[in-house]
Amino acid sequence: MNMNKNQKQSVENNMYPIDKQDSYKLIHAQLKSLLENETNVIPNLANTSALLNLALSEINWVGFYLIKNGELLLGPFQGNPACIHIPIGKGVCGAAVSQGKTQLIPDVHAFPGHIACDSESNSEIVIPIFVDNTVIGVLDIDSPVFDRFDEIDREGLEEVVRILVVGCEWINYYENKKVQDEF
Ligand code: SME
Repeated sequence: MNMNKNQKQSVENNMYPIDKQDSYKLIHAQLKSLLENETNVIPNLANTSALLNLALSEINWVGFYLIKNGELLLGPFQGNPACIHIPIGKGVCGAAVSQGKTQLIPDVHAFPGHIACDSESNSEIVIPIFVDNTVIGVLDIDSPVFDRFDEIDREGLEEVVRILVVGCEWINYYENKKVQDEF
């Protein structure tokens, strides 16, 4: 990990600024440090989910689904075991892919077709991951609190995804390129 002393301390002691914008600034700096010497997708997504799990309050699941064989397949995450396959267009994650835009859902029970992986979840945000103008997966975060996510979260998490897109080598996860070997 190439974090400076203050960045490292905030991860280890789980200390993040109360101001959400300041907190996201620190998360972005920490994520850039985590990605500095590694471009492999799996470890980078695993560390990103661990970082967000430490940094964000009032969440019960954070992780990734990546498109594989025309559906979303569970990727690295933190939280309870979750559904492995999600069809494109189904649930909040599938909607983020088919609409190509962030889904900010204050009450998942009011979302038609919501897929309940964890009965604790009451609100959710899903950010599509675009590589070369194509959605290759999503970042999904659940909260037990209704209306947990706002515009600051949307901006902060969309920036997390942009940092990841730049910091990872995605060629093996980009189905249209027909790469044979995944690892
Ligand atoms: N709730 C999601 C499914 C994934 S879990 O939340 C981890 C959805 O409706 O797509």
